[in-house]
Order: sequence, then structure tokens, then C-alpha cells
Amino acid sequence: ATGRFTYDPGFTSTASCESRITYIDGDVGTLLHRGYPIDQLAEQSNFMEVAYLLLNGELPTQAEYKTFTQTLTRHTMVHEQLAMFYRGFRRDAHPMAIMCGVVGAMAAFYHDSTDIHDPHQRIVASHRLIAKMPTLAAMAYKYAVGQPFVYPDNSLSFTGNFLRMTFGVPAEPYVVNPVVEDAMEKLMILQADHEQNASTSTVRLAGSSGANPFACIAAGIACLWGPAHGGANEAALNMLREIGTVDRIPEFIARAKNKDDPFRLMGFGHRVYKNYDPRAKVMGQTARKVLDELNLKDPIFDVARELEKIALNDPYFIEKKLYPNVDFYSGVVMSAIGFPTSMFTVLFAISRTVGWVAQWNEMIADPEQKIGRPRQLYLGATQRDYVPLSKR
Ligand code: SDX
Repeated sequence: ATGRFTYDPGFTSTASCESRITYIDGDVGTLLHRGYPIDQLAEQSNFMEVAYLLLNGELPTQAEYKTFTQTLTRHTMVHEQLAMFYRGFRRDAHPMAIMCGVVGAMAAFYHDSTDIHDPHQRIVASHRLIAKMPTLAAMAYKYAVGQPFVYPDNSLSFTGNFLRMTFGVPAEPYVVNPVVEDAMEKLMILQADHEQNASTSTVRLAGSSGANPFACIAAGIACLWGPAHGGANEAALNMLREIGTVDRIPEFIARAKNKDDPFRLMGFGHRVYKNYDPRAKVMGQTARKVLDELNLKDPIFDVARELEKIALNDPYFIEKKLYPNVDFYSGVVMSAIGFPTSMFTVLFAISRTVGWVAQWNEMIADPEQKIGRPRQLYLGATQRDYVPLSKR
């Protein structure tokens, strides 16, 4: 059985979870999805194939791949009344605030895929979530910039469709740039799943209560938004912009080492990796490639490269085992493609929905799965009697 929460006996229980989906060795910097190394998947596969792998445990045959992608494309549109939700938001609402709302609201529309005990409904809900996230995300961007929503074009790839819905306009044809599409594919693959990170654990905990899948993924989106987690890509690019030039790097390195300063190097450090995050390596190569092939000069990338070099040779970071993580270069890639920083974590959410859904299905399919119930180490007052107000 997998996905079962098990607790140590006694007071200091620690929740742990069994899964067959993703393996991480933080000391070595290994990341495997169903046994396949992340760098091989990023270089040789595509996001839809990785989605199939995470959901089903094996790489698809050509026929399975065709059926899977065709099935997903039938779910790319959203209910027209869901689109009405956007009119209620302020134009300057953070796109993640919108995503928390509209993804949860999917439970108010797709009643035929909320019964978690029905395997067919679970798969339909899974396909709907994966397929509709790009559409809802592109709508959040369009609403922010005051442009009309662009409907999906299912003749395009998953990433090509998202790019067109985001950057295309009805007034003129949109041609997907293969360089940008390739960078998007890598971005989506590198962020698809990552074992029991905070947002995935949130999805599992919500799912363990029997909540419907749309509510569970909305909970995951809310958790991912935090700057210590998925929000770090937006924070990392804002930090690189604040540093601005290579000669200001020492000032920020000093701040990051100063215990009295809450500043941390965003995109650096990790709860599990005490070595180089293998995703950061591929993301850095992707950033270089997309900048070169689009002939973009982004001083931010130079700052990132120099910051990484200095930090990796600094005794403090070496001693604390702090390395770049997936969020350090991802912002450079997304910025090069044309996304505003406010959309960075939304893109992370599009990708991670595949991992959340795969992990949710794994847990729900486990007949022995029980509701998650982390315990605590109680440090409060010992028992005492109430004192009436008149005597206080
Ligand atoms: C993601 O869990 C996942 O898998 C997440 C994720 C995924 O795919 O789902 O990988 C995605 O969330 C990546 C992480 C993105 N967050 C950031 O980049 C934000 C900046 N990083 C940090 O806030 C921090 O590194 C954390 C939150 C990621 C981890 O924090 P921890 O648990 O405190 O890290 P640690 O125990 O390894 O820290 C060791 C020491 C501590 O100092 P001391 O208490 O020993 O004195 O290093 C310090 C930390 O204070 N430290 C940093 C630092 N990160 C840790 N100091 C400066 N800059 C940093 N970035």
C-alpha cells in the first residue's frame, strides 16, 4: 500500500508517507520520477509524457501517449460561468489569489468528478485539473493586462496552447516559437513533482479527509504561494533585480550571513537537498539557452551566475550546505519568455498540479489510507483551575 501516513508511537510523532512516485537523495542531489533521472526526462522527454509517467508509473507507448494527450485536450476549456468569476476580482489581484479562488470553485461546476470513491471520477477530475490549469492561468494573466480571454487551440502542444492563450490576441495570428516552447517544456518537467514538499503534503492532508480533488488542489496552490516554497521564484527574481549589478553582490551575501538580518538568498537552500538541486543545473542551462537563442541580454542572468559562483565558494554557504534550488534560475527563464514575476508561481502551480494529482490518486487508491492527523509536542501550561474574573 502506498501513500499511507504512518506515525511514530508516543508523543513526538512524525508524519511519514510511503510513495512510489518520486525519489530524492538530498545528500547526493538525485531526483528520480518513477526511477527515471530528472535530467534525462528534461532533456529527452516532454511534459505530457512525464505527466503520464507520474500518474501511471510507466512511460507511455505511442498509442497510450496519443490517447492520453487527446483525452486531456478535450478538457482544456472551462465552463463559461467560471470565466465570470474573473470579473469579480480587482485587475491588480495577484494571479495566485485568483488561482486559489477559481480552482477551488471548479468543485461548484464539475459535480460528475467529485466522488473520490469512484475510480472513473477520480481520473476525470485528474484530467480536468491538469488540462484546465493552463487555461485558468492564462485567463488570470489576460484579466490583469485587460485583454480578452483566448480559447484553447487543441492542435497545439500543452505548452504551445498555454503560450498562445497567454500571449496571443484575437486580432492577429500567434505562432509558437519553438525555442520558447522547448524552454516551457523543460520548466514544466523540472517542477512537476518533488516528493512530499509542503504543498504536496497539504494536498495529501486535505485529501485524507475525503475532500474533493478540486478543493485539495486549491489548498496546494495556497501553500505553494509562500515565498519559502513556490513563491521563491518570484522572490528570487525580485532579489536579483534588487541586487542589480555584480558589484552589489557582496553586500547581499553579507546580509544573508547576518543572523540579525531576516534576509535570505532566495532560490538558495533546501529542506532536503544538501547538495546541488539537480533541477537547478538543468534550469541554469535552459536559462542560458533561451537567452542566447532569443538573442536576449539579461544582466540579471549575469548577476545570478556571479552570485552562485561567489556563494558556492563562501565558507558560510559551504558549511551550511546551501546550494541553488529549482527557483534560482527559473525566474530568469520565465522572464526571458515574457512572463511578469507575478505569474512565476502560477506557472509552478500548472506544472506541480501533475505531481499533486498523481500523489493524491496514489493516496486515495490506498484502501488502508486514514485521515492525516499530525500530533504535537505540548509545551503549554500544565492543568490548572479556572479563576473567576472578579478574582483576577
Ligand atoms: C522549494 O520541499 C521541496 O521539495 C520544495 C521544492 C519543491 O520542488 O517542492 O523544492 C520547492 O520550495 C524550493 C525552496 C525555495 N525557497 C527558497 O529558495 C527560499 C530561500 N530558502 C530558504 O528560505 C531556506 O533555504 C528553506 C526554507 C528552503 C529551507 O530552510 P531551512 O530548513 O532553515 O534550511 P536549512 O535547515 O538547510 O538551513 C541551514 C542554515 C540555517 O541557519 P542556522 O539555523 O544553521 O544558523 O542555513 C540558513 C538557515 O537559516 N539558510 C539560509 C538560507 N537557507 C537556509 N541562509 C541564507 N540564505 C538562505 N537561502
